[in-house]
Amino acid sequence: MKNILVTGGAGFIGSNFIYYMQRKHPDYRLVCIRLVCIDALTYAGNLYTLDEARKGNFRFVLGDITDRKTVFALCNEEKFDAIVNFAAESHVDRSIENPEVFLKTNILGTQVLLDACNKFDIPRYHQVSTDEVYGDLPLDRPDLFFTETTPIHTSSPYSASKASADLLVMAYHRTFGTPATISRCSNNYGPYQFPEKLIPLMISKALADEKLPVYGEGLNVRDWLYVDDHCKAIDMILENGKVGEVYNIGGHNEKANIDVVKTILKAVGKDESLITYVKDRPGHDMRYAIDPAKIHAELGWTPETLFNDGIQKTIDWYLNNREWWQKILSGEYKNYRG
Ligand code: NAD
Ligand code: TYD
Repeated sequence: MKNILVTGGAGFIGSNFIYYMQRKHPDYRLVCIRLVCIDALTYAGNLYTLDEARKGNFRFVLGDITDRKTVFALCNEEKFDAIVNFAAESHVDRSIENPEVFLKTNILGTQVLLDACNKFDIPRYHQVSTDEVYGDLPLDRPDLFFTETTPIHTSSPYSASKASADLLVMAYHRTFGTPATISRCSNNYGPYQFPEKLIPLMISKALADEKLPVYGEGLNVRDWLYVDDHCKAIDMILENGKVGEVYNIGGHNEKANIDVVKTILKAVGKDESLITYVKDRPGHDMRYAIDPAKIHAELGWTPETLFNDGIQKTIDWYLNNREWWQKILSGEYKNYRG
């Protein structure tokens, strides 16, 4: 049996990873895989998201990854085979408003988890990182992509905190031999994404006939990946990735923000007059674009979901699960403890 600690599993990608792993191991209700989620339930954590997961061999622990005592006690008790670290402050705009918590969770939290790995001889640590550590690419050079050797060059307190954590992971691997891997993924979309990020924000606002705030001229480009494809890549890295290595994850789905917003409006039958151009984000990265050649060549990973299919699936999910995001908008989700 594999016993995996998933940090930040009440958030967007962590919860999708839990469901991905449970689907992949249909006998999970028996013994083949156990998933333990530790999550501090910040504003981004939502226990409603994990209702279905609880039917499996699953345990939820309310806890903060920066709390060494709690993390060590859990690791001592559970004897994990791996830690997959999704827990983070993840929204660039919030990092501009208040950087401090980003540094605490994203850097010091990572350090506590790495120390736990060393102390309890946990055979594998995986750091879920982001393409934002590479900074951005110019719009007029579509031939350029981020590879694993692209220099770290961060723009926001968020990306700086993620890059710092990556450096710490590599340093622990080299100095202490911590068996760690890192993945750097492009922008994800799919079910259970908090409606402050571009795609769910625009879907929820369009459905409410509210103005859709597009930063600057809407020309910034993001490289969108359906969340299950990210989860599949992490699973493959856990199975066959080489410790000490970084893997970029992305599916060559580059879209300008304005095109994403127009696609959403069309799909929900709303008029483009809802679009409103607002003041640009300070330090706004222009373009992200991943070269996934390494993970493809070494692990055989390829994305399965094309953007047109993935965005429709995502819009359908938000249409069919209005209660989920309306409980967030009303604040009700904060009181739910499962
Ligand atoms: P999210 O904000 O939806 O979820 C983060 C989760 O972490 C929440 O459940 C929150 O409660 C929890 N958390 C925050 N601080 C914590 C702490 N101190 N202790 C324990 N739990 C804590 O984020 P997400 O979009 O699911 O991102 C997950 C990871 O993937 C992050 O590390 C992020 O940097 C990375 N990433 C995200 C994207 C993306 O497009 N969303 C792309 C690439 C990489
Ligand atoms: P976001 O989902 O915050 O992800 P990230 O900044 O990590 O890429 O934003 C995606 C893009 O959408 C980014 O270029 C900023 C832009 N954006 C808007 O134009 N309006 C908004 O209200 C938000 C939240 C983002």
